Order: sequence, then C-alpha cells, then structure tokens
Amino acid sequence: MVAPLKVGIAGLGTVGADVVRLIEAQGRVLSERSGRGVRIVAVTARSKAKKRGIDLRGIEWVKSPQALAEDPKIDCFVELMGGAGDPAFSAIETALNAGKSVVTANKALIAKHGLRLAAAAEKHGGALNFEAAVGAAIPVIKTLREGLAGTGVNRVYGILNGTCNYILTRMEQEGLSFAECLKDAQRLGYAEADPSFDVDGHDTAQKLAILASLAFGTKVAQSAVYVEGISSITPEDLRAAEELGYRVKLLGVAVRTAKGIEQRVHPTMVPKSSSIAQVMGVTNAVTIDGEGIPPITLVGPGAGGAATASAVVADIADVARGIRAKPFGRPVERLRDTTKAPMERHEGGYYIRLMARDLAGTAATIATRLAEQKISLESIVQRHPDGVDMNGAAKKPSPVPVILITYATSEDAVHRALAAVQRDKVISGRPQVIRIEKN
Ligand code: HSE
Repeated sequence: MVAPLKVGIAGLGTVGADVVRLIEAQGRVLSERSGRGVRIVAVTARSKAKKRGIDLRGIEWVKSPQALAEDPKIDCFVELMGGAGDPAFSAIETALNAGKSVVTANKALIAKHGLRLAAAAEKHGGALNFEAAVGAAIPVIKTLREGLAGTGVNRVYGILNGTCNYILTRMEQEGLSFAECLKDAQRLGYAEADPSFDVDGHDTAQKLAILASLAFGTKVAQSAVYVEGISSITPEDLRAAEELGYRVKLLGVAVRTAKGIEQRVHPTMVPKSSSIAQVMGVTNAVTIDGEGIPPITLVGPGAGGAATASAVVADIADVARGIRAKPFGRPVERLRDTTKAPMERHEGGYYIRLMARDLAGTAATIATRLAEQKISLESIVQRHPDGVDMNGAAKKPSPVPVILITYATSEDAVHRALAAVQRDKVISGRPQVIRIEKN
C-alpha cells in the first residue's frame, strides 16, 4: 500500500477553501484515479480566525508559507496566495529545491519566474504544475504539453479573461455602457482586485505568454506580448460588428509567422459563425490550430473558486500518480529565445470607424488615402443622419460615422493611411481600429 500524498496548502481564500472542500468530497475517487490517497496535512494563511466554512480539524496550522515549504512532513506544496513576488516565489523555490512538488494557480508568478522555477523542479525531481493558471478548469496546459506532444502548433488563441468577456457580452446584448458592466463583474467576483489588470489586457497577456511557450517551445516572454484593452470599445462598435457579421472579443493570439512569433492581446472582431464567437459571459475558450488536424477548441469556466480548484486538484492528482512532466513540455535548456514579430508588420483585416465630415469629397479623400497605402476595402458603410432637426429645420452638417472593413493589409499601412486622413482634417476625434481574426 503506497502512503498517501501529503499536501500543504498556502493560501485559504476562495480557491484555497474550495480545494480543501474538493479534496474532502472527492477523496475516494481521487485515490482510485491516482492509485494513492491524497491528504491535506498542513495549511497556512494570513488569518487563522477568518470564517471559511471548511473543516480544518486534524490539519496543522503552520505560521508562514516559508515554514510550510520547508516542512519535511509535506510532499506537495500548493501555492494559492497569488502575486508575482514574495512570499509565493521564495516559498515555491524553497519547496522545489527541497525536492517537493509544487502546484500553483499563480499566472503572474509563472509568467515572470516560470523558467527559473521549472529549472529548479527539473533539477530536484519535483513536479511544477500550473493548470489552474490559465483558463481555470479548462485543461489547456495539459492539452498543449501532453495531448499535442506529437503535433506542431501554428496558432493558439482564445478568450482568456472572464471579466472582459462578461463585459463585452452584456454591452452587446443589453446595450449597456462599459462602466456599468464592469461594476457588475466586480460585484460577482470575476474581476481581479485591480480591475484594470483585467480590462487593460494584462491578465490575458500573462496567460498568453504561458500558452505561447508551451505551444512553440520558446521561453516565456511576457514583455514580447503586445497589449491593448477593451475600455475604448463602445456599444456602437458592437452594433456595427453585429451588422457586419462579427462579434468583438478580447483575444489573446499567439501565432507563428514568417517574421517570428506574434503574441498579441487586443479587442478582436471574429466571424459570428466561429466557435470562439459563440462563447458568452464569463466563459473562456481556447482554439489550437495544430499541423495536419482541424482546430481544437476547448470551452469552459475560466474563473471562480470551484473552476480553479478543479484544475488545482487535478494537478495534485498528477503528483500523486507520480507524473513528472517537464513544466514547459521540454527541458528548460531546450526552450528557444522568442523571436518577436513586430506589431507594425502584423497582417490582417481591419475594422475602422471614423467620425467623418458630412461634406462632398470626404469619402473620396478617405478612399484615396487608403488606396495610396494599397489598402483594399471589403465594405464601406456611412450612417446618414436624417438631415433635419425635430422642428424640420435643416441641421448643420455634423460628423457621421463611416465604417470600413479592409481586406488583409499591414498594421503599418493602416497607421499611415489614418495619419494622412487626420492631416486632411476630414474626420473628428481618433479613429477606432479593431483587428479582425479569421478562423
Ligand atoms: N480575473 C480573471 C478573469 C480571473 O476575469 O478571468 C481568472 O484569472
């Protein structure tokens, strides 16, 4: 009879408490599936007195994460405190250097220090599992690391932030403002403590950097990710997208190109018929384009205590089974430096919304500037005001929205054309530009 795996948990917030509950509820199934019992023997958290609704009788309370990581009683250190630095970083490194296995849900830490920690895990023979760091319950790390070990990956992209997808879904379906929807996301507990981390795209960028490393065998490089958030998206953009056959999603996209690996996070128009466009609310989804096979799309809950605990406990089960996969799918010393494809050379279709002067020649000027950059238009729509005010008097010409969809062109060409249009003084305000991602 193999002795049970002895687990220590650092951090008993929403996720930590749900992990304790899940191990308690699934104890028998877990031991059947992993061939070994799993027992929580010690925990640590900021406050011992806090009411958590979990039974900690028979579990030792340790004074600090560091003390837990050093505790010779435990085989597996589970880090659920968060934060890219200490105490999480030092405690994890200590546990790995002592030959223990580590399970963490900490995307910020893995994006920043993942390589150093993976090297420690490889050197000392422990596991470093972080399935919960990306897409919570969606087993996307395992899919890239193990399920597709024999398949080359050309592109991985997805909705990796529940808060942003929740906001965009409600803005689209109910015509609400960005600010109203953000408030609800915070109330429901989806958003990070600092919601700008979600809505400005940084949460997605950290997750994307991890996926790109696993997909392409490159070193995790969060600094190589181009990031744009969703705060400039308006209900008008979502309505126009709908009319043109698209939906707007905040996507993280990592793609192999002739110029290197593009890693980018930005609001994206996706065809309404695509799998990713069907994903609504807080749900996450990841599509993987593998060589020689049709795309694989994984869809599921990407945030919340129960969803995150599901992945954490699955990672613990792998440790119990004795699985010691290389954290990034291959030895750290075999991971290549990332060749970053510059964003100015990105090629794709674009949605452009301009507020144009309603006078003869404006459309011709815009078309000329686009043609000078060899940008070809798939469609152009101008919304006409009614031309008279409520008393029947003729209105002064006011700016009218002009919406353009381009065929594939380069980011550089779009910037040059729009700078020229601005110099021509035929538009007011800043143009809205949303990249289009085809499936
Ligand atoms: N704030 C994140 C989200 C939680 O909204 O998806 C999971 O990382």
